[in-house]
Amino acid sequence: MRLKGKVAVITGAGSGIGAATAIAMAREGARIVVADINEAAAKAVVEQVEKAGGQALAVRADVTRAADNQLMVERALTTWGKLDIFLANAGVPQFPTTIEEQDEAVFDRIFAVNVKGVWLGAKAALGVMKTQKRGVFLVTASTAAIRPRPGGQTYAASKGAVVALTKSLALECAPYGVRVVAIAPVATETPMLATFMGKKEVDAEGMARYVATVPLGRLNKPEDLANAAVFLASDEAAMITGSCLEVDGGRCI
Ligand SMILES: NC(=O)c1ccc[n+]([C@@H]2O[C@H](COP(=O)([O-])OP(=O)(O)OC[C@H]3O[C@@H](n4cnc5c(N)ncnc54)[C@H](O)[C@@H]3O)[C@@H](O)[C@H]2O)c1
Repeated sequence: MRLKGKVAVITGAGSGIGAATAIAMAREGARIVVADINEAAAKAVVEQVEKAGGQALAVRADVTRAADNQLMVERALTTWGKLDIFLANAGVPQFPTTIEEQDEAVFDRIFAVNVKGVWLGAKAALGVMKTQKRGVFLVTASTAAIRPRPGGQTYAASKGAVVALTKSLALECAPYGVRVVAIAPVATETPMLATFMGKKEVDAEGMARYVATVPLGRLNKPEDLANAAVFLASDEAAMITGSCLEVDGGRCI
């Protein structure tokens, strides 16, 4: 077990990449705070973890709210006494739109969840980790930060912001032995994929168009990101901080 005895908070853990990571980290021995704005989804993931013999608890949390970020961390501390891993994963996608047609309210929402949500998570978790002199803060960024697609300007900018935030926080936290790392997935088979494709539902045309942009010839499964997160959160990644790991089948080459 690569995360035996560790305690993790994962945001947006009710679905997709967050859910797969909660399940994978629990399998590796971590106890998980499964946080999501969708409480029913968070509870369903906790059930899955428990059925597999792991330990988890569900928290309804909106990452755009400072108090909710505090709550997730407090639940980890009051239940299990420490916080080893925080995966700031909750995010919202963008429907492809030209800049002149983009609604300002969409910008505000995307930045509130994808940027302020990560910033608030860092504010809540990193003080605890610095005091412990131990911890790993992971951020789900995107290849959109490195190799964006046309029409995705607002989402790309939000992910670029958290990659820069990751690097700055990594320097701030290094003297305390706390690591901060971003993960950049290429298109991943989760409920938000259709929106990126500009569709209501994923269809053959959308899949073919996206797969054609990935040298390894397929999109990510949520488990591809879960495997990366388990590694980065483990002591095997002890010398990795400030990096943005592309999990992208070669898309960013
Ligand atoms: N799916 C992709 O193609 C892809 C590619 C690159 C990066 N990402 C990033 O991966 C992360 C996870 O996305 P996913 O693909 O698993 O999508 P998903 O839609 O399956 O899961 C996102 C989860 O976040 C939750 N959420 C949304 N707003 C929230 C909020 N304010 N507070 C708390 N929870 C909230 C949702 O309820 C949902 O459970 C996101 O940051 C996304 O931007 C996804």
